[in-house]
Amino acid sequence: MKVLVTGGAGFIGSNFIRYFLGAHPDAEIINLDKLTYAGNPDNLGALVSHVNYEFVLGDVCDTKLVEDLMQRDPDVVVHFAAESHVDRSIEDAQEFVRTNVQGTHTLVEAARRCRIERFVHISTDEVYGSLHLGESADEQSPLRPNSPYAASKAASDMIVRSYWMTYRFPAIITRCSNNYGPNQFPEKLVPLMICNALEGKTLPIFGDGLNERDWIYVEDHCRALDAVLYWGRPGEVYNIACENTVTNLEIVRHVLRIMGRPESLIEFVADRPGHDRRYALDTRRITADLGWSPSIGLEEGLGRTVNWYIQNPDWIRKARAGEYLKYYDKFYRQRERTLSDL
Ligand code: NAD
Ligand code: TYD
Repeated sequence: MKVLVTGGAGFIGSNFIRYFLGAHPDAEIINLDKLTYAGNPDNLGALVSHVNYEFVLGDVCDTKLVEDLMQRDPDVVVHFAAESHVDRSIEDAQEFVRTNVQGTHTLVEAARRCRIERFVHISTDEVYGSLHLGESADEQSPLRPNSPYAASKAASDMIVRSYWMTYRFPAIITRCSNNYGPNQFPEKLVPLMICNALEGKTLPIFGDGLNERDWIYVEDHCRALDAVLYWGRPGEVYNIACENTVTNLEIVRHVLRIMGRPESLIEFVADRPGHDRRYALDTRRITADLGWSPSIGLEEGLGRTVNWYIQNPDWIRKARAGEYLKYYDKFYRQRERTLSDL
């Protein structure tokens, strides 16, 4: 199977490529990634020289490049590329609209023209908005995104849905809860707390810390995507989560316990504007239809995650210093040279 992955140098995309090539050694992967601050080839480790892996530097909004890649006849497109951090979207939403909305449209249009047989669009539980205690969102629940990030993802979901309704374009949408695990950029809650604790810095908790998220270890998400990719029904939406919500305060305390650091490092700071109180998903569809269920509990997943960050101080240092952006400059200079040679 030939798979065109977008955003495969980021957190979930890189974990997915590693998982997928491990589970399907004959698969071929083409990874289209712009290498923003959140993406870097180091996330793929030794796979960068794997014979079945090819990296293409570029933007999902680049129509010509995307059309050229679709001409290479992938069996499936798995679309991860996005601007993904809520706080950045609150500062400036422009790139979120461009990459998440325009980029998704560019991809589905090119994929439709090339009659791609399957397109998996990676979305998020945040499109359902904040839920009351006791509530959970199933795939028919209304979309009520509250942050500019969530709104841009909901808009991209609607574009994908319209392509299924209008053209019977064989797209599947997945909506997963909060992921944690290796290679997550240290701006999101779990890696930020681990990295700060490692450096003896304070751990900033927004508001009262009682907002709830449903955490899933990234490998469980990758297994779910593998099942969706092979067995999912075109036109369908699949929620993916562990159905086990915990407060931010609980998860941060958990991290501190695993690391043997004191709770006095916790610092309550001003709340995020429009901060969603609670996300929770009903995952009966993916369990019943595809037989998927999560296999890694919070204790084990957090333990593995903490270990990974402890063992990769160089990765943390480079990510925090913005050093991976140098890949971007280097690759672009190379590409410009190649183009001027033509
Ligand atoms: P990430 O920010 O770690 O990685 C995003 C990747 O996309 C990076 O490699 C970046 O370089 C690339 N990218 C950004 N703009 C691009 C563009 N214009 N063209 C090509 N590549 C571009 O994100 P992540 O956490 O791995 O999330 C991946 C997907 O999963 C996103 O669509 C996100 O909305 C979704 N998701 C994330 C979570 C989570 O908890 N992280 C949960 C549910 C869904
Ligand atoms: P985050 O990892 O940014 O994911 P999302 O906002 O997409 O769910 O944040 C997870 C939760 O942790 C969210 O309720 C905001 C909170 N949070 C903090 O309290 N402090 C922080 O420094 C960060 C980054 C997040």
